[in-house]
Amino acid sequence: MTGVCAKSLCSVSYFNMIAVKNSGSPVSVSKARRWIMFDRIADTYDWINRCMTAGLDQRWRRHVARALNPSVKTVLDIASGTMDVALMIARVRPTIQKIVALDMAERMLAIGQSKCRKAGVHTIEAVVADVHDLPFEPQSFDAVTVAFGVRNFENLDRALSQIAMVLKTGGQLIILESCRPKNRIIAVCHRFFLRTWVRLIGGFFSGSTDSYTYLSDSIHTFSSPEDMMVRLKNAGFSSISYRYFMMQSVQCLYAIR
Ligand SMILES: C[S@@+](CC[C@H](N)C(=O)[O-])C[C@H]1O[C@@H](n2cnc3c(N)ncnc32)[C@H](O)[C@@H]1O
Repeated sequence: MTGVCAKSLCSVSYFNMIAVKNSGSPVSVSKARRWIMFDRIADTYDWINRCMTAGLDQRWRRHVARALNPSVKTVLDIASGTMDVALMIARVRPTIQKIVALDMAERMLAIGQSKCRKAGVHTIEAVVADVHDLPFEPQSFDAVTVAFGVRNFENLDRALSQIAMVLKTGGQLIILESCRPKNRIIAVCHRFFLRTWVRLIGGFFSGSTDSYTYLSDSIHTFSSPEDMMVRLKNAGFSSISYRYFMMQSVQCLYAIR
């Protein structure tokens, strides 16, 4: 890996957390709790994801990787977690030279790093930082991806404007996120699935029912693609479009900076 070993990951994390504080945007308790929660469920996160979606989650991530323009050379994967999207991009798009996997949760990234080592992937660099205060120069990346991350951001509009800042003009943003289906009958079934299967199975196997209660509630209350399109436009994006997966329970948004 060109990235950071587990030890230096800690120092990067420490540095970035200090940087966040110094830049005048202190980490609030609620935001801090959200990423700490992911560190708590990191060890079982991948396995529970596969279980809950019958493996479809990896198909959606492959879609994101394939949707990147052929000219893309540098990608920032925000809220990268255990790096499933970053690894998928490395596999599907071997011509991409550099993928930065950014997250606040060190444990999630450490698991991602060990997956990279096992897969022999050397193009992914781990950075512990907050999406609300990205530690990169303006116009640093050809593309940004965010999978199942945006609903956890405390200030989504600020996060989108930070993403717009680090993207090159003409750069690509792809967001994958869960949402509440529009069809009422499907929405009721979806709600039932979240409250039972996701909450109980996730809670049981991760040992953290609180985390999976939060995750299932946050899915049900998150913005629709139409709302996301307005936010993206306000953040300076154009050519915005979207599609759904799995009976409208997952949205994929595409936008150009
Ligand atoms: C549901 S996980 C998604 C992980 C991965 N992208 C995937 O496809 O499975 C959400 C991730 O968002 C991260 N996250 C939450 N708030 C964040 C923030 N403010 N800045 C950066 N990452 C954040 C969490 O730590 C967690 O790893």
